Amino acid sequence: MVLKNGVKPSEKIKIYTLVDNTAGYGFQGEWGLSFYIEVHGHKILFDTGMTSLASENARLAKIDLSSIDTLVLSHGHNDHTGGLAHFLKYIGDVPIIAHPDIWTKKYVQENQNSLDYIGIPACREELESKGAQFHLTTKTFKICQSIITTGEIELNNSYEKIDSDLLVKTAGEFSPDSMMDDVSLIIQTERGLVVVTGCAHRGIVNTLQHAQRITGDQRILYVIGGFHLYQASHERLDWTIQTLFTMGVQKVSPCHCTGFQAMAQIYQNMPKYYQPIYAGSVIEIET
Ligand SMILES: [Fe+2]
Ligand SMILES: [Fe+2]
Repeated sequence: MVLKNGVKPSEKIKIYTLVDNTAGYGFQGEWGLSFYIEVHGHKILFDTGMTSLASENARLAKIDLSSIDTLVLSHGHNDHTGGLAHFLKYIGDVPIIAHPDIWTKKYVQENQNSLDYIGIPACREELESKGAQFHLTTKTFKICQSIITTGEIELNNSYEKIDSDLLVKTAGEFSPDSMMDDVSLIIQTERGLVVVTGCAHRGIVNTLQHAQRITGDQRILYVIGGFHLYQASHERLDWTIQTLFTMGVQKVSPCHCTGFQAMAQIYQNMPKYYQPIYAGSVIEIET
């Protein structure tokens, strides 16, 4: 049964963390992110971590990778896309939803003398020869009526800026990366929105406000993923936490590039709303 606006009636959503910077007993972690999500009859892989670790942790968690029907890439950085080639061995030719800019040549400027490549560590043709089916769009993509991607996210405040050390190389020239490929997953439920983020490079508040705008639902039931606050100023951090409160966010599981200091401050300010996650953890969301 599907209700008005494509919202499904009460049902549990299960989110397994396959890769995070931290890990639970028996699992390993790495700098990166990958979730496996069971929702509304769909089995979705969201990001793939940096290496083969996400697929190895998935097998440890006894997840049947061959049953995955959709893969979403939150952006092109290697800590979210590096595991893709490894998953292709198990998942076959399922659609891979992403923004076309995942293929821009992405770099990080560690210091004045050091530029590191941090884009997808494989070429498109090679991945396609292994079965990858890319569905690239700048717009929101409907996996079904109640599960959509954000598409491009607007920058709407003075606090959330793209890190200046993130660059792209075009025709031999380096320029700031606007991270237009940064997208999140939105699950619409009877109790509000579940928003799954990769790094939220375009800002966690911008991401949530965008989700509210495109769904018309102001209720944020759960936010899980990277909030990208590990380099944030005290002002930005204080403002972000205050805004999450003002928006009435009901539950958060910040991880990955949120950073320890930000996670600690979010926990201190909203302990009842905070659910820690790590590689090997499984959360269930009652909807
Ligand atoms: Fe990341
Ligand atoms: Fe990133």
